[in-house]
Amino acid sequence: MSLVLTNRIGISESYTLQVYEKTGGYQSVKKLFSMEPVQVIEEVKNSGLRGRGGAGFSAGLKWSFVPQNTGKPTYLCVNADESEPGTFKDRLLLEEDPHQLIEGLIIAACAIRCRTSYIYIRGEFDLSYRRIRDAVAEAYDKGYLGKNIFGSGHDLEVTIHRGAGAYICGEETALLESLEGKKGQPRIKPPFPAVVGLFGCPTVVNNVETLSALPFIIQHGAAAYRQFGTEKSAGTKLFSVSGHINRPGTYEKPLGYPLKDLVYNDCGGIRGGKRLKAVIPGGSSVPVLNAQDVETVKLDYESVAEHGSMLGSGGVIVISEGVNMVWALRNLARFYAHESCGQCTPCREGTGWVEKILARFLSEGGGEKDMSLLMDISNNMMGKTICVLADALAMPVLSYLKKFPEDFAEHFKGRAASPQMRVL
Ligand SMILES: Cc1cc2nc3c(=O)[nH]c(=O)nc-3n(C[C@H](O)[C@H](O)[C@H](O)COP(=O)(O)O)c2cc1C
Ligand code: SF4
Repeated sequence: MSLVLTNRIGISESYTLQVYEKTGGYQSVKKLFSMEPVQVIEEVKNSGLRGRGGAGFSAGLKWSFVPQNTGKPTYLCVNADESEPGTFKDRLLLEEDPHQLIEGLIIAACAIRCRTSYIYIRGEFDLSYRRIRDAVAEAYDKGYLGKNIFGSGHDLEVTIHRGAGAYICGEETALLESLEGKKGQPRIKPPFPAVVGLFGCPTVVNNVETLSALPFIIQHGAAAYRQFGTEKSAGTKLFSVSGHINRPGTYEKPLGYPLKDLVYNDCGGIRGGKRLKAVIPGGSSVPVLNAQDVETVKLDYESVAEHGSMLGSGGVIVISEGVNMVWALRNLARFYAHESCGQCTPCREGTGWVEKILARFLSEGGGEKDMSLLMDISNNMMGKTICVLADALAMPVLSYLKKFPEDFAEHFKGRAASPQMRVL
């Protein structure tokens, strides 16, 4: 079935301009240049496209916040930092279909009247970097980027910037700081980047997958995009599935697709014929689901929220029976404690304390007092910091405590600890 984002995946040399154009690429731009920027924004608003970087905010609405006639340039930044554990969908788009992203970038740039854009790409991505670099060079050679693109009178410059290994630089304001050559630390919002962004100018930051959906929307129209998904969660989404699963990988599905079908039909079920224990549905930052939730949850923003979690980046991490969830949570805590940028006390101290308490729980055993302490620390981390990295650990901690108390009880002092198994 033909979808939106992955139709070229599997075609030989899909990343080249030749194959891209042969398979219908760069067709939307013809329509684009016959539209006013405000019409482009309206079409994207009507499509219901929501940002795929994690927050799920309406893409068209975000663009409409960009002030015009400020006398300053407007910038567009592509967020290709993709460092959330369990998330590897943007990498696929960068490696296999970089021209689709460039076409999306051209559409977004025209909508917000931007002439200068940046692609901020995760430093560890090597093949992705080479593919997007080569695609940008091909587009420049053909006159699709640079001065007077497609003979339209619009100019659009693209610069690729490689990150240097910090997860926090995926947060949009830390990304802007990093692009400005400063330490990658989030800014206090408001003001939001749409108003005061890169170098103090209006800026839109969009995720790779968000931009990659635009060629389809402009070429085929908002209604065609809305044939996929649900009323509030329109279109398709990429899900990167990892963990104890028979066929891990990236899957494009209409939003509203049952998680159970993704796990058991598309991905071939749990490795080793084991039973499912838990699923993290939206990258490591979101609350965990238990096996009962998985029976009924659908992969759209609303259904996942009704089950107490978030769709986030669509990084689906599958965990089978036999894994002790305290061990899994400690893994997460170690990551967030390491990646905290240190500006806010609740995050800098809280992530470290959570990690230490969990480590002690595993090595020496713990008790109900430690569980209340974890809860207390997490509640004091949530909503009290400059960015949501603190919440990205606090929310999982609270959900693991709520949904898997028996796994903590296995480590109560005086009880033999269960064998700890590798999660990922
Ligand atoms: C700690 C943290 C890390 C993030 N990492 C990424 C990332 O790697 N890629 C991404 O697109 N968005 C990431 N985001 C979300 C961005 O701040 C921002 O919301 C997103 O790039 C906006 O694009 P969208 O509207 O197209 O989703 C992160 C947010 C936080 C708080
Ligand atoms: S919440 Fe954490 S990562 Fe975010 S700004 Fe504060 S210290 Fe830095």
